[in-house]
Amino acid sequence: MGMTFILLGSTGLTTTQATEVGIIDLLNLENYANQETPDYITRDNTPDGNPITDLGATLGRVLFYDKRLSRNDTISCASCHQQSHAFSDVADASAGVNGTTGRHSMRLINNRYSQDRRRFWDERANSVEAQSTQPIQDHIEMGFSGADGDPDFSDLVTKLSAIEEYRVLFVGVFGDPNITEIRIQRSLAQFIRSIQSFDSKYDEGRSQVNNDNANFPNFTNDENAGKALFLAPPAPPRPGRQISGAGCAACHRPPEFDIDPNSGNNGVIGSINGDSDFTNTRSPSLRDLVGPSGESHGAFMHDASLATLEDVVDHYNSINGVNTGLDNRLRGGPGGQGQQLNLSSDQKSQLVAFLKTLTGNAIYDDPKFSDPFDEAGQINLILLPVDGSEISFTGSGNNRQAVLTSSGVPNVDYVVQSSTNLVDWINIPTTASAEGVLSVMVEAPASTPGMFFRVSYSSLGGD
Ligand code: HEC
Ligand code: HEC
Repeated sequence: MGMTFILLGSTGLTTTQATEVGIIDLLNLENYANQETPDYITRDNTPDGNPITDLGATLGRVLFYDKRLSRNDTISCASCHQQSHAFSDVADASAGVNGTTGRHSMRLINNRYSQDRRRFWDERANSVEAQSTQPIQDHIEMGFSGADGDPDFSDLVTKLSAIEEYRVLFVGVFGDPNITEIRIQRSLAQFIRSIQSFDSKYDEGRSQVNNDNANFPNFTNDENAGKALFLAPPAPPRPGRQISGAGCAACHRPPEFDIDPNSGNNGVIGSINGDSDFTNTRSPSLRDLVGPSGESHGAFMHDASLATLEDVVDHYNSINGVNTGLDNRLRGGPGGQGQQLNLSSDQKSQLVAFLKTLTGNAIYDDPKFSDPFDEAGQINLILLPVDGSEISFTGSGNNRQAVLTSSGVPNVDYVVQSSTNLVDWINIPTTASAEGVLSVMVEAPASTPGMFFRVSYSSLGGD
């Protein structure tokens, strides 16, 4: 039996230091599609047409962190949605290419796990997909608006189409290299839906009991008391009920803590610019309101008007007037006031203690949600198999063949070369299957002492 070698080709896009910043190994993708979720989580807004795939979410991650999605290459989605702040921004108003936003940036935690499909504080986008290209087309945020002297979306498509890495990624995900707005939306939405946080103190406790009302064994007394306040409706207490609660769960519904799709506004009616704004009826999930050590992710509400969780509780404790659009559940105070909960200072601290249990840990430094670009703004894709290639032989004598099987990026073109002497090489152009398998068969001389293979990525030049 002769010896068989596989030599791995390399191109400018290839390196083997997969763990370093700036490198994505497309043959060993991170797990986005099959992450574990607790069994008590049931809400899921993934549409039939756009399930998460590992490669699709990887493309979404690259787009999310790519500053070239802004007209002057300075702003990415992540500029305003920072991983260290639960994909939000500590600044009240975030800086875009042409000024600052009119509302506070929203945390992007557990976007997948809400009943409501609409997005933005005022719910003007109908889905995560529809939302995802609006910032790109916003004059202030990323500047491909097609108005006010801005380039338009087709200019962005032209810009991205010239980038080799996107050619590979779009071919891999969609089967051909065409870049369209819908494809950008699908990939960004896959990445955003993959950002999930279920390793909080709340989850640890919730998994040990049958329902939210049970005392959680891992909670302090104050956290359990705060949970009870969060869950129970406000006064007057029903007969037999020990406490009257703060009524939060009617709108922020555990265990997802997503907003009730029928919520009205909550009496926060200011705006960053100083005007009134009654249109905001959506809140992101209440998970990860603050960081793992209690650090601030920025002020709360669309107008960033409440700096701390204590301020939030004070707001709901005593809502001043009954304003346009105020949800009925927050009305009913005496003398034309909104709700008056009359919480004691102990009860307020208990509510805050409970809200802090909703913060997870892994999300803040999980590499699969991090910036894939290196300091120079470069990204390197591993396209060539570094292990796992196999060679088998079939037939015998003059009818002997060698079959090379290896992993490859789905739909991407490669050239496999074979040789019996390392000097003369036969080129075999091939395309990886949609399942990511490269397979070629070559004639193997009966008497050869060895077969050598090398694989290279077949660069475009366009088709
Ligand atoms: C200049 C800052 C900025 C940039 C850049 C930006 N966003 Fe946002 N994002 C915001 C602000 C502010 C809001 C809330 C706006 C509103 O409700 O009117 C928001 C809201 C969202 C929401 C809604 C979340 C929810 O729960 O309703 C999603 C999703 C989102 N952004 C994703 C993205 C994506 C994807 C990109 C890149 C293509 C992006 N953002 C770029 C500032 C930004
Ligand atoms: C009637 C529905 C309703 C009730 C009841 C309610 N909220 Fe809200 N909540 C909202 C809405 C709507 C928003 C978004 C408001 C905005 O920014 O304009 C919000 C926002 C928040 C935010 C800010 C989220 C962020 O990302 O900035 C926190 C924190 C919060 N609520 C906590 C509570 C607590 C605690 C209670 C109980 C004391 C409560 N809510 C009761 C509807 C409700």
